[in-house]
Amino acid sequence: MSRVYEPTDHVVEKSLLPSFEQYQNMHKESLEDPESFWSELANEFYWQTPYQRGNIVSYNFNVDAGRIFVRWLEGSRTNICFNVLDRNVRNGLGERIAFYWEGNHPEDYSRITYMKLMDLVCQFANGLRERGIGKGDRVSIYMPMILETVVCMLACARIGAVHSVVFAGFSSDSLSERMSDCKAKAIVTADGAWRGEKLLVLKNTCDEAIQKARDKYNHYVDMCIVVPHLDRVTPCGKIPDDVKTLYKWNEDVDVWWHDIVEGMSTICPPEWLTPDDPLFMLYTSGSTGKPKGVLHTTAGYMLYAAATFRYVFDHREKDIYWCTADVGWITGHTYVVYAPMANAATSVMFEGTPFFPDNDRFWAVCEKYKVTQFYTAPTAIRALTKFGDEMVKRHNLDSLRVLGSVGEPINPEAWLWYYNVVGQGRCSIVDTFWQTETGGHVLTSLPAATPMKPGAAGFPFFGVEPTIIDENGRVIEGVGEGYLVFARPWPGIMTSLYQDHNRYEDVYFRKFPGYYCTGDGARRDEDGFLWVTGRIDDMLNVSGHLMSTAEVEGVLTEDSNVAEAAVVSKPHPVKGESLYCFVILNEGAKFDADLIDSLKKRVRSRIGAFAAPDVIQHAPGLPKTRSGKIMRRILRKIAQGDKNVGDTSTLADPSIVDMLFLTRR
Ligand code: WT7
Repeated sequence: MSRVYEPTDHVVEKSLLPSFEQYQNMHKESLEDPESFWSELANEFYWQTPYQRGNIVSYNFNVDAGRIFVRWLEGSRTNICFNVLDRNVRNGLGERIAFYWEGNHPEDYSRITYMKLMDLVCQFANGLRERGIGKGDRVSIYMPMILETVVCMLACARIGAVHSVVFAGFSSDSLSERMSDCKAKAIVTADGAWRGEKLLVLKNTCDEAIQKARDKYNHYVDMCIVVPHLDRVTPCGKIPDDVKTLYKWNEDVDVWWHDIVEGMSTICPPEWLTPDDPLFMLYTSGSTGKPKGVLHTTAGYMLYAAATFRYVFDHREKDIYWCTADVGWITGHTYVVYAPMANAATSVMFEGTPFFPDNDRFWAVCEKYKVTQFYTAPTAIRALTKFGDEMVKRHNLDSLRVLGSVGEPINPEAWLWYYNVVGQGRCSIVDTFWQTETGGHVLTSLPAATPMKPGAAGFPFFGVEPTIIDENGRVIEGVGEGYLVFARPWPGIMTSLYQDHNRYEDVYFRKFPGYYCTGDGARRDEDGFLWVTGRIDDMLNVSGHLMSTAEVEGVLTEDSNVAEAAVVSKPHPVKGESLYCFVILNEGAKFDADLIDSLKKRVRSRIGAFAAPDVIQHAPGLPKTRSGKIMRRILRKIAQGDKNVGDTSTLADPSIVDMLFLTRR
């Protein structure tokens, strides 16, 4: 049984949504009368053509009944760039700071108002148009966390060009595959950026990707737009010897950013988009290799981004909000760019890493800007707990009110540290469950309205109807565990996969007709809390007992010797599957027979004898993607002693794989 944490006065006072009852009423209304619920929010936005009454949403989620589709606000025309910039400026908020930019080096920082940002976006948008980019054209973006990245995304949105941001940690192979798949006309990048003490020469990666796109995919990019970023920031490390001249310049394709905007007007009429016009696409990894180009459109996404931000972060005027995610991921799209700006919020945008110049950088930045909402990933929290409480306590974090978590289930140990040490026991934690595909949060706690349990994602957001079903598609009411699916669309849901609607239907709708299938497991407890138990492919079935890897990992990390754990299933002749556990130890901890024994005992006693791990392996590190996601597929291979691990190119550090084979038991 886990303890229930109620929101404290620090959070409840002056809250937008101060009670559970109010949440329940609003949730009920959002399901019973979506038209009245969402049209009220829609009225805050500018519509060049309003949607026709009665058309708030139409959809088909049943593959057996024909083509799957979702359409919100049919008949409407609007533009999200206009709504997050011009609308705010017209409302008298032009002088409000949109972003405080904090560079990799603490001495590099700047700020930009909504008005100034609008001018820059319009100029860049005009520059793109001038060079032949317009509605429906794809633009790849391979950028560091700098203000031009926001300018570029919004400029594309303004002219109806479809941005496809590729995280600037991806290799040239991945970038070329992604920009060729969507036939990008242009790519926007920077010469380079510092990440901690490491220099990334992004322009070189782009050049390689452009070359590979030609050679491998016969795709020619017209233009590579380059922001000269390195000259204006403080060098943070040594420029490697092998980088003699940092990069080459190719007159045929390369254009400087400033040459695009030079002489451009700050007035740029937006392209008015329908709910069928794509806003952006974002590639996400699929279980079958080829990345999926998740497609989002404007009207529904805009409403949902705005609503989730407002309620999940309990946003109020004068708040300073900081989401540490990179814009290369959906979290960056929705909760660095579109959602805060749709609420005229003031945000921090951070270029650096949590570990530079020291391991207290996150807390230093929170203190510097008096951050009220801080939103990061469990992997970062776990990494930071290792450096001890003192790193946090040397900073004044009294401004904090809401702490967000996203990307994976947060283990109770990390939750408690976040709650007690960072939040000083008075902030609310919002554990936000969602996906690239969902556009915005779908399960979460709400800071002042819902109670919290460490590790539980909590409750459905407005418009969301979660259902738990078993393998045979039978609905599990009340307490139980199974597949997490959704019975109807919410405004933020993706509308298709780029040029692959069949795959969209197959991956998300075929398994359980009538439902959107998340691919995650979930459990509803006796208090109605929803717990996301991890990917279904990470579900373990040991002797007929269904359990989640996350559950076992949570138990292992309770041991003070263990910093991080990853559990995978290993086929077992009698039990079907068995637990194979990788553990990363804290500094100074010793891996020996006693530790193995006590870890096994701990799992047995916390979950049950059936859950006793067969193997505990000491891991120097875990195979993670650059976004911090553990690639369990690879761990399963290691557990089985199968050297045939497949593609490791998306790993942050592929050498981990060999090390894990060496420490295998
Ligand atoms: C998958 C989606 C959502 C933006 C970042 C990741 C896992 C995400 C949580 C959470 C448990 C979570 C799920 C989901 N996930 N948030 N709060 N609790 N699991 O986006 O790369 O599309 O990954 O991340 O497994 O399906 P993504």
